[in-house]
Parts: sequence; C-alpha cells; structure tokens
Amino acid sequence: MDIYELMRKRRSIRKYKSEPVPRALLERILEAASWAPSGKNMQNWRFFVLQGHYRDDYLQYSQKSWDTIRPILEKRLKPSLYQFTERFFYTLGDAPVVIFAYNQPDPEENPQTSMGSVYMAVQNLLLAAEAEGLGTCAMGSPLEVKEEVDRFLGVTGTDLELICGITVGYPDHSPPAAPRQEGRITWLGFD
Ligand SMILES: Cc1cc2nc3c(=O)[nH]c(=O)nc-3n(C[C@H](O)[C@H](O)[C@H](O)COP(=O)(O)O)c2cc1C
Repeated sequence: MDIYELMRKRRSIRKYKSEPVPRALLERILEAASWAPSGKNMQNWRFFVLQGHYRDDYLQYSQKSWDTIRPILEKRLKPSLYQFTERFFYTLGDAPVVIFAYNQPDPEENPQTSMGSVYMAVQNLLLAAEAEGLGTCAMGSPLEVKEEVDRFLGVTGTDLELICGITVGYPDHSPPAAPRQEGRITWLGFD
C-alpha cells in the first residue's frame, strides 16, 4: 500500500476481535519500531508486550485511569461517544494485546528528545500494524496511573519512564476519520 494511503487509513481502534495476534506478527511490528530515528541513535525505547492474564490484570489500572479522565470527557464528548469511550477504558475494546512504551533516559540526552524518540518508534509500530491489517490505539491514559503501571510491570525504582500504552488486535469496527485541522503550518521564505 502507498505510504500516504496507509497514513490516511490508520484510525485509532477501540473495538477488537477476540482473535489472538501471532507472536511473529508482533515481532515484525516491533522490529519496524526499532527502525525509527532516535536522538544520538540511543534507541532509548523499551517495550513491554502483554497478553493473556497480564493483559487482563492491566484492566484494573485502565479502569482506574478512567476516574481521572472522565470529568474532562464528560464535557467534551456527546453521550454515545462518551459511553463508547468508557467501555474502551473498562475493556480496552477487548484488544488481545497491550504494549507499553517506556523511555530509558540518558543524562547526555535532552529529555524531550528522548521522549520524542520513543514516539517516533511508536508511530512506526502503528503504521506497521496498519500495514499488517492490525488495529491500534495509542493511549496517554496509563500515565494517569503510572506509579501503579510501573509496579505492575516491575520497573519501580528503575530509571524507566512510561510514555504510553498501545492496544493491538484485529479491528472490529471502522471508525470515521477524525477531522484534521488547518492552519498548523507556518511557511517562511516561500512566496
Ligand atoms: C499521545 C496520544 C495519546 C492518546 N491517548 C489516548 C487515550 O488515552 N485514549 C484513547 O482512547 N485514545 C487516545 N489517543 C488517540 C487519539 O484520541 C486519536 O489519535 C485522535 O482522536 C485522532 O484519531 P485517529 O487516531 O483515529 O486519527 C491518543 C493519541 C495520542 C497520539
């Protein structure tokens, strides 16, 4: 598929089929992540890939994160979308796999560069997943409960910093494209 088409086609998926994702496929999209650029080529991303009871056990934290996000979304979303989003937080849309992306900071690297490098890898992963027919949803919501997530993954006391979670699975809906805004680019010296 054309890269532009792939980027336009990708949607955040919040409802998944129960079909498991073969490990070889997960390895392929994680390898694609590793080809992302990174500041000083530090490749400072670290991924935790969960399925089975690990994925199920994470649900309690996802549900807890909803408590802090709910008041904001209550005001922003129309009722049907609000209910759908609530269900996603409670079930992760039945995604069979959830990945957590962490940053391993380095004193010689600017913190924002490190964090950006992790997101570069995350975007590679999302696009590779799309190319493989998988759906994903990047989630900042685990940050609302990051101490618990760190403990759950056994990284408390290390230097690892949680960046985001990503659900992965075969899509069970085709959400419409969220509109894109204009006026985000400033052109200088082009007239
Ligand atoms: C950094 C980041 C954090 C996000 N956090 C969440 C989240 O916690 N929960 C969620 O349902 N979607 C989350 N999203 C998905 C966005 O809501 C989604 O990308 C946006 O609405 C545009 O829709 P699209 O991805 O289908 O194009 C996040 C996306 C990004 C990039």
